[in-house]
Amino acid sequence: MITALRGMKDIIDDAPKYEHILNTAIACAKRHGFSFIDTPILESTALFRRSVGESSDIVGKEMYEFIDRSAESVCLRPEGTAGVVRAFIEKKLDRSNGTYRFFYRGAMFRHERPQKGRLRQFHQIGVESFGQKSVYEDAAVILLAKDIFDALEVKYKLEINSLGCVNCMPKYKEKLSAFLDMQDDLCEDCKRRKATNPIRALDCKNSACKSVYENAPMIADFLCDECKKDFNDLQDILNQNGVLFSHNKKLVRGLDYYNKTAFEFISVEIGSQNAIGGGGRYDKLVEQLGGKPTYAVGFALGVQRIYDLVNPPQSKREGVYIGAIDDEEIAHIFSYAAALRKKVKTFIEYEPKKLAAHLKNADRLNAEICAVIGEEERANGAIWLKNLANGDESRPPLSRWLESDFN
Ligand code: HAM
Repeated sequence: MITALRGMKDIIDDAPKYEHILNTAIACAKRHGFSFIDTPILESTALFRRSVGESSDIVGKEMYEFIDRSAESVCLRPEGTAGVVRAFIEKKLDRSNGTYRFFYRGAMFRHERPQKGRLRQFHQIGVESFGQKSVYEDAAVILLAKDIFDALEVKYKLEINSLGCVNCMPKYKEKLSAFLDMQDDLCEDCKRRKATNPIRALDCKNSACKSVYENAPMIADFLCDECKKDFNDLQDILNQNGVLFSHNKKLVRGLDYYNKTAFEFISVEIGSQNAIGGGGRYDKLVEQLGGKPTYAVGFALGVQRIYDLVNPPQSKREGVYIGAIDDEEIAHIFSYAAALRKKVKTFIEYEPKKLAAHLKNADRLNAEICAVIGEEERANGAIWLKNLANGDESRPPLSRWLESDFN
């Protein structure tokens, strides 16, 4: 038997949750003025190397990259931001100086060690906002994430930090590098991070490293005046708008493109993979990928991470199930079903069956009405109906029933 690959899951039993999360998040994103964008799953490998960054675990060890039949190095996207930025530049939107707000949803791929809440193919819902320098926009995307989690009744903790900018971050990195140089017991990953992007070390899950970093210099103490002001303003705006948060000074995010605001939504109700969403500002990325300098901020949430936290509303009985007792009626019910589908959700059964079997089918499909034609109905130009929601049975004339409006 051929099975799905390790870390990749079919969405069958969880389909109602998946749909509920998607529909809820998309409705919120639209209310916040974001419009739909979809970008290819397969992109040039260079796109992620230049955006997500060589020092990240994602690029360092998790990408599904391969050489395609045109000898090009391509990669299944590990995240959504880079593709949206590429599309934004390719469409020359960076030259218009306008504000553009996009949302997307789709599969992302990371070759991680699978465990609960951590898949190799997983789904994100993300938003990217371009063109706004104001820290109000950072607050606005955080409010959007909050609205989504609130609408889904998912409880979370919000952690925020500022990662500084080109003025203050390099000075901090120097300090941190000097600190790291003095440590003897860093894990192999942190030794690599020390050379590529030292701040990524603060994100290390190794307990020995973690205790070393308790005494590390923190970016919060190195922010320039502008970054300090923006970060203070962000906290004020969140406070004024009823958003609870804490300042996690060690929050650095797993991708290299962020500056200033970085944030993560954490659940305390799931296991170790507790980040249910994350994002931040990335004002240099458009330029880094060849576009005009453009302010940008966004986030993505992990659909599978919140499966256990959502309860989709019980689906109501809906639609018509139509079946026949004898073979002669199948061609007719096929035509009736074609007409019904223009007005109402319709299920059809092609096998002639006894009434009890049809009722069982209709019940399994969660239909509201079970409609069956047998000998008696055929003789009288009628149809037998049972409303499975309230148990009512009737036998109206077929033509009248087909013309009803099914509201
Ligand atoms: P990220 O933090 O790497 O950010 O991923 C966002 C969310 O995707 C995580 O918080 C988590 O819920 C989910 N996720 C990540 N990896 C996995 C996995 N292996 N299995 C299941 N869920 C996972 C980004 O991807 C950025 N592009 C977010 C962003 C958008 N920043 C700015 N704009």
